Amino acid sequence: MKYGFFDDQNKEYVITTPKTPLPWINYLGCKDFFTLLSNTCGGYTFYKDAKLLRMTRYRYNDTTPDTNGKYFYIKDGDTIWNPGWQPTKTALDSYECRHGIGYSKFTGSKNDIEAALVTFVPVDDAVELTKVTLTNKGTSKKDIQLFSYVEWCLWNADDDMKNFQRNLSIGEVEVVDSTIYHKTEYRERRNHYAVYSVNAKIDGFETSRDEFRGAYNGPDKPAAVIAGKLNNTICSGWYPIASHQINISLEAGESTTFVFALGYIENAEDDKWEAPSVINKKKATALLSKYQTAEAFDSALAELCSYWDGLLGKFHIASKDEHVNRMVNIWNQYQCMVTFNMSRSASYYESGIGRGMGFRDSCQDLLGFVHLIPDRARERIIDIASTQFQDGSAYHQYQPLTKKGNSDIGSGFNDDPLWLIAGTSAYIRETGDTSILEETVPYDNDMSVATSLMEHLKRSFDYIVNHKGPHDLPLIGRADWNDCLNLNCFSEHPGESFQCFGPSEGPVAESVFIAGMFVKYGREYADLCKLTGDNAEADRVLAEVDKMIAAIEKDGWDGEWFVRAYDAYSKKVGSKECEEGQIYIEPQGMCVMAGVGVDDGNAKKALDSVKEKLDTKYGVMILQPAYTRYHLELGEISSYPPGYKENAGIFCHNNPWISIAETCIGRGDRAFEVYKKTCPSYIENISEIHRTEPYVYSQMVAGADAKFHGEAKNSWLTGTAAWTFTNISQYILGIYPTLEGLSVNPCTPAEFGDFNVTRVYRGVTYNIAIKNPNKVQKGVASLLVDGQEIQGNIIPFDGSKKTVNVVATMS
Ligand code: BGC
Ligand code: NOJ
Repeated sequence: MKYGFFDDQNKEYVITTPKTPLPWINYLGCKDFFTLLSNTCGGYTFYKDAKLLRMTRYRYNDTTPDTNGKYFYIKDGDTIWNPGWQPTKTALDSYECRHGIGYSKFTGSKNDIEAALVTFVPVDDAVELTKVTLTNKGTSKKDIQLFSYVEWCLWNADDDMKNFQRNLSIGEVEVVDSTIYHKTEYRERRNHYAVYSVNAKIDGFETSRDEFRGAYNGPDKPAAVIAGKLNNTICSGWYPIASHQINISLEAGESTTFVFALGYIENAEDDKWEAPSVINKKKATALLSKYQTAEAFDSALAELCSYWDGLLGKFHIASKDEHVNRMVNIWNQYQCMVTFNMSRSASYYESGIGRGMGFRDSCQDLLGFVHLIPDRARERIIDIASTQFQDGSAYHQYQPLTKKGNSDIGSGFNDDPLWLIAGTSAYIRETGDTSILEETVPYDNDMSVATSLMEHLKRSFDYIVNHKGPHDLPLIGRADWNDCLNLNCFSEHPGESFQCFGPSEGPVAESVFIAGMFVKYGREYADLCKLTGDNAEADRVLAEVDKMIAAIEKDGWDGEWFVRAYDAYSKKVGSKECEEGQIYIEPQGMCVMAGVGVDDGNAKKALDSVKEKLDTKYGVMILQPAYTRYHLELGEISSYPPGYKENAGIFCHNNPWISIAETCIGRGDRAFEVYKKTCPSYIENISEIHRTEPYVYSQMVAGADAKFHGEAKNSWLTGTAAWTFTNISQYILGIYPTLEGLSVNPCTPAEFGDFNVTRVYRGVTYNIAIKNPNKVQKGVASLLVDGQEIQGNIIPFDGSKKTVNVVATMS
C-alpha cells in the first residue's frame, strides 16, 4: 500500500494523506541552520548544533506522536483547522504534502478556504521562510483569522527538558511591530537570539504559552484561538512562545499571501544592546528586510533549487529502470547530503541531544558525498583526523561545535583508524588532490604534536599491525563496526554502557571483519604510498596485508563462510560451532570486497551461504540464528529481542557490502536483487509494512525472527545512504573513481539494458553510454573515449577537456 507517489519531474515525494504510518519527514537547510519537518508540520529548528543551539521545542515520547512543530491555525467561524492537519486534526477537505529537495509544500483546504504553505531555508541565511497563501475558493466573502505558533526552546535542548527549577524563571522576549524576539539568557552569557516575524501588520500577538493555550489545553485546543483573540502578553519566565494573529477578509476567488520568517541572530560581544535591556536588532532588521515580499521569497527558493540541481547533476543516470533513476538522481544523493549535515545527531530516532559526530560514521558518510562537495569533504577529513590519538587510535566521537574528541565515550573501537584511510582514499580518488596528504594535522587537537595527514594514515595502519591477537587477527577493542559486539565488556547490570563498561581492550578478542578492512584499506593506503613515491612503505604495507590474508585464510575461514570474531576466551563467534549466531554478514561482505577468497572460490561459497542462511524477502539479515538469550561474553548484540537491530535485524548498512561483494565475483543478477530488496522506491508499495519514509533508507528492517518482519526503523541518518550510493554508482553501474581516472566496469543484471551516465569528475563532464548487446552481467569488451579505443577500464584523466564522451560495450 502507498500513501503518496513520486513526482520525479519536480524531485518531490507527494504524500496524499496526513495519516502516514509514521511521521514522514524532510530536512530544510544546507549549511548552519536546519529544520526537521514532518508531513503534518511537526519538527524543530536549530542552529549548527541540535543540542546546544536548539531554537524550537519538540516533545519526545509524547502520547500524541509528533507533537510540536511550527503551526498555522485558521479560524473560520467555529471551525479551527491546520493546513498540515496537526495539531487540531480537524478533518480536511483536501490535504497534500510535497517533500522536495530542501523545501516542503503543504496544501490543505476546508470549507472553501485553501491554505498553501511553502517552507525552506535559503542557501546562505540563517532563517526559515514560510509563505502562506490563503484563497477563498467559494462564492461568497469570508472573514477568517490566521494564527502562527512556535514554542521556543531555551537553547540547550537537554537542559530544557530537565532543569525546570531554573528554566521556568528565565524566559524573556521583546516584541516590536510584527516581530517577536526570543532573548532568553541573552542578558548573561549568550550573544544570540531568535526572531519570528511576518511581513504584514498584525492584529495581535502572544508570547506566553499558558495565555495562548490555556493552562490545561494542548496545542490542539488553544484557548486564545478559540476565543479569536491574542492578548498581547509579554511573557516573563514559564514557557515563551511566539504567535501572530492576522484578521483577513477574502472576497470570493480572492487570495492573500504572507511571508513568515524564523531567524537566528548572533551579535558581537560588545554590540549586544541598543539600550539597557533592549537587544540590538540591527542584524535582525537587515535579515528580515531581505524577505519582505512573495517575490523575494520565490527568488530565494529558485536559488535553493538551482543550488541543489547543480549538486545532484554531478551524477545522473538514464536507464529503463525508473527506481534506479530516481534513487540515484534524486533521493539517494539527497540523503547522503543530509547525513553529511547531521551525522547521527538529529532525526526522529536520534534526539539531537545524544551522540556527536561519529569517527567511523563520518568517514563512511564521506564516501557518499565526496563527489558532491569535495571541498567540504576535505575539511571534514582534517577535522576527523585532528581527533586521532598519536598511537593511531581515535576518539569514537567528536562534537560538531568544538570539533574536539568526546572523552565520555573515548577510544578503543579498533575499526575506527582504518575508516580514516577509506575516507581519505575516496577523497583523493575523487579529486586527485594529493596536497591533503601534506596538510599538518594535530593529534587530539594538540598542534604541538601535529604531523602530515599521510603520517596519520600510517599510524592508522600501524595501529592494527601493533594490535593483533593470538590468531594474528586484529584485536577488536570495545567493538568494531558492529557497536553491539562487545567482546571485552561483560556488562551485568542495567544502566551500564554496553560499549564503555569494563576494559577498553582485551588481549584475546579478535575481529575478522577488521582483518578484511585491513586488507581492503591497507591496499588503498599502499596505492597512496606509491602515488606519492614511497615505494618502500608500499612494499612494507603490502607484506603486512599478505600476512593478514594468510591469517584470515587460516583462522578466519569456517569451511562455508568467514568467521566473525574470536571472543575473550578465544572461542569462535559466527561459526557453525556456535549454538546461536553461526553466520554474520559483515565478514562475508568485507572480506570479499577486499578480494579475499575471490581466486580460490571461498568468496563464492561465502556469498552462497549468505543467500542460503541470511536472505529474506525484505533484505539480508545481519546474523543467524538470532540470539535468544543474553550472552554476557557477547554484549549488547544479544540484548535485543531476536530480529531487531544488531540481533538478526536486516541492517541496511551492510546489505550493499553483500551487493558489492557479488559484483566482485561478477554476479550482477544477485547484486541487483540484493540492491532492490532495501531500495526505498522499489518497496514503496509495501509502505504499510515498511512504515518509514519511502524515499530514504532506514538503518534497520526487522528480520525474520521479529514479530514485525519487514518493518523499518531509524530512517535518514544511517551509513546505508553512502554505502548504497557507492554500491549502485561505483559497482553495479560501475563508474568508479581511481587515482588515475574514472574506471568503467559495470556489473548489472543481464536484463538491465543499455544506460547512460553523466558524471562530473574533477571538473570534467563525462557522458558515458553503456551498451550491453549480449546481455552479460559483467565485462567491458571495448571502451571508446572520444572515439578512440583504449585498453583496460580506466579513462586516463585529462583536465584540459571540458567534456569527454565515452562508449563502453559490455560482452
Ligand atoms: C545501537 C547501534 C549503535 C550504538 C551507538 C546501539 O544501541 O544498536 O546501532 O551503533 O548504539 O552507540
Ligand atoms: C550505528 C552506528 O552509528 C554505527 O557506527 C555502527 O557501525 C552501526 N550502528 C552498527 O552497530
